Amino acid sequence: MENERIVVTRQPPGQALAILESAGSVWMWTEDRPIERQVLFDQITTATGLYTMLTDHVDEALLKCAPDLRVVSQMAVGVDNIDLAACRNRGIKVGHTPDVLTETTADLAWGLLIAAARRFGEGTRDVAAGRWGDWDPNYLIGQDIHGSTVGIIGFGRIGRAVARRAVGFGMSVLYTQRRPVDLSDPQPSFVPLNELLERSDHVIVAAPLSTETHHLISTNELRLMKPTATLVNIGRGPLVDSAALHHALTSGEIFAAGLDVTDPEPIAPDHPLVTTPNCFITPHLGSSTIRTRQAMAELAARNLVAGLRGLALEAPVIA
Ligand code: DGY
Repeated sequence: MENERIVVTRQPPGQALAILESAGSVWMWTEDRPIERQVLFDQITTATGLYTMLTDHVDEALLKCAPDLRVVSQMAVGVDNIDLAACRNRGIKVGHTPDVLTETTADLAWGLLIAAARRFGEGTRDVAAGRWGDWDPNYLIGQDIHGSTVGIIGFGRIGRAVARRAVGFGMSVLYTQRRPVDLSDPQPSFVPLNELLERSDHVIVAAPLSTETHHLISTNELRLMKPTATLVNIGRGPLVDSAALHHALTSGEIFAAGLDVTDPEPIAPDHPLVTTPNCFITPHLGSSTIRTRQAMAELAARNLVAGLRGLALEAPVIA
């Protein structure tokens, strides 16, 4: 057991390091930025376990340099940065962190929806720039959230947690994903993507990124949305075509967007979406509360240790 060598690509919060150190020696990248790829290549050569962030690319080239690697454990629920087929071929177990971040991420979706539909971004910029004049009946008029219809694209754990919160706003919920889920309630209703886009007052994207969902929302899909609608993306940036979204926002095809993820990410301050007033962007904060990040870090550590010990991972992507 003591011979395990674990590579950690970024300092995790909570007790994660202590958990990892109970299983072997730990090498960790300590700088406050993603690990340099060459450093990761150098360190991985003798590693048996790899603890990753969503900013790391775990691809075939990296795995080729890691003959002893048995477990990859990611401190995130999304694993689109990991070549799962290559891991499967090599018999490498992969873990992730579902459940512990569901409610926190769903909270942020609502924050983004309200901020974008009610024009918080333009409002706070006006306050900071001294443009807050006398109360004006026509100033920064937004769209209502309560009583409207929200369409949720991707109805996994997070999509369902988003839907539960809609009850308090007296909203109707539509959802779409590959297959309808078996719900006792008639609400929310499963509809095909195009119908969801046409009928929803607001649309929230909570789907995982894959080759099938890349640019799931592009020119044609945005055209189907109501001109009063807000689009929120809490999944991954490339689910939405950035150029098409910019066009839809500036031509009045849709009312506003709230993005916690962008393509590219991080997004440059002079990117057209950043400078578009009706686009409200947060820097990938979905899971970022103290309690949730600790829970994610520690679950990822327990996954890695379990895998190295030949036990079942608590949250496996590849068991
Ligand atoms: C995840 O876990 O995939 C999230 O994007 C992290 O906030």
